Amino acid sequence: MPKRVVVKAVGGYEQLQVEECPPAPPPSAGQVLVGVKACGLNFYDVYVRQGLSPYVQPPCTLGLECAGVVKAVGKNVQSIQVGDHVAVHCNAGGACAEEVTVDAASALVLPQIISWEKGAAFTVNYLTAYFSVMHLGGLKEGGAVLIHGAAGGVGWAATQIAKRLPGVTVFGTASLSKHSAIKVNGVDIPIDYQQNYESEVLAVRPQGVSLVLDSLIGADFTTSQRLLEPLGKVVMLGARGMVGGEQRSLWRVLASWWSTKNVSPFSLIMNNYGVAGFNLNELKSKNPDIFIEVWKKILGLIISKELDPHIDSVWKFEEIVDASKRITERRNIGKVIICP
Ligand SMILES: NC(=O)c1ccc[n+]([C@@H]2O[C@H](COP(=O)([O-])OP(=O)(O)OC[C@H]3O[C@@H](n4cnc5c(N)ncnc54)[C@H](OP(=O)(O)O)[C@@H]3O)[C@@H](O)[C@H]2O)c1
Repeated sequence: MPKRVVVKAVGGYEQLQVEECPPAPPPSAGQVLVGVKACGLNFYDVYVRQGLSPYVQPPCTLGLECAGVVKAVGKNVQSIQVGDHVAVHCNAGGACAEEVTVDAASALVLPQIISWEKGAAFTVNYLTAYFSVMHLGGLKEGGAVLIHGAAGGVGWAATQIAKRLPGVTVFGTASLSKHSAIKVNGVDIPIDYQQNYESEVLAVRPQGVSLVLDSLIGADFTTSQRLLEPLGKVVMLGARGMVGGEQRSLWRVLASWWSTKNVSPFSLIMNNYGVAGFNLNELKSKNPDIFIEVWKKILGLIISKELDPHIDSVWKFEEIVDASKRITERRNIGKVIICP
């Protein structure tokens, strides 16, 4: 029997378990069946375990993305063949399993030079970063961006994408022990959480930055707006501030929500800045064409080595608790991978 990683109920690490499951269903028309080789973990998987996802509640199978080999294709699938290597995106979760059956539009053929780990590492992080920096953020040559969590999966990707633009300055927050790594990845000015990042940014760039990628919410959302130069933007893409450790803290969730102040349209007019929000799941559901267009573009940039996902660590399914701790205990640099 194949295995999968499940979240049994809302709670701590003990709710992450590996269990046997029935084989994935044979592909219907327009679907493919994939034998999974590696799965990417995301901060979103922490929200799922803590009952904070708006999409799924436990019990459920973990995982938004994986890579593997195609075992069968349904009718009307022309672009993918049995034996192809693919990256897979699972909007509703369920990617951390030995087999998955998905719509062909949720699988992207990979050249065999891409390792299983890298194949499982780039979809969520690099698409989120690309849409946030380039589409919503509109970062331009000579601009400056503040990336919160620059050592995480999205932060790592956003740094590389921003640095493709000539003359861009990247400020990045991260735990102190990760500063040398994020500098190698392209962050010009690493900032520790113990420092006051507002004054650190303004000391280097008194006019402020063109873009802030805010994955924290709470009071940081207000600070992000204060840091914008005229015509700058904040792109909101996460709510990491709601998570304070292994267990969900309702107090922390409420405090984050309470300290995230509403944006007044008058304030936007008077200060010439923009606030945007990004959500990859919703974008894929409502505009699959642009999702696939950017997915292919990112893969092309990885093949040409202009972008390079960094693998923090690789774990077995049975080590899911250690893999998840690595993210919640803030030890990862780049992507955490689990393999069947
Ligand atoms: N909207 C979307 O479609 C979308 C898609 C993907 C991701 N996201 C969001 O983007 C953010 C980054 O996601 P990711 O998957 O790349 O995760 P990640 O950055 O790998 O998350 C782990 C890292 O976050 C940092 N961190 C900051 N505050 C934290 C906290 N309160 N608790 C634990 N760690 C904290 C830690 O590193 P340091 O201490 O070194 O900073 C930790 O190592 C998340 O908020 C996620 O929800 C949104």
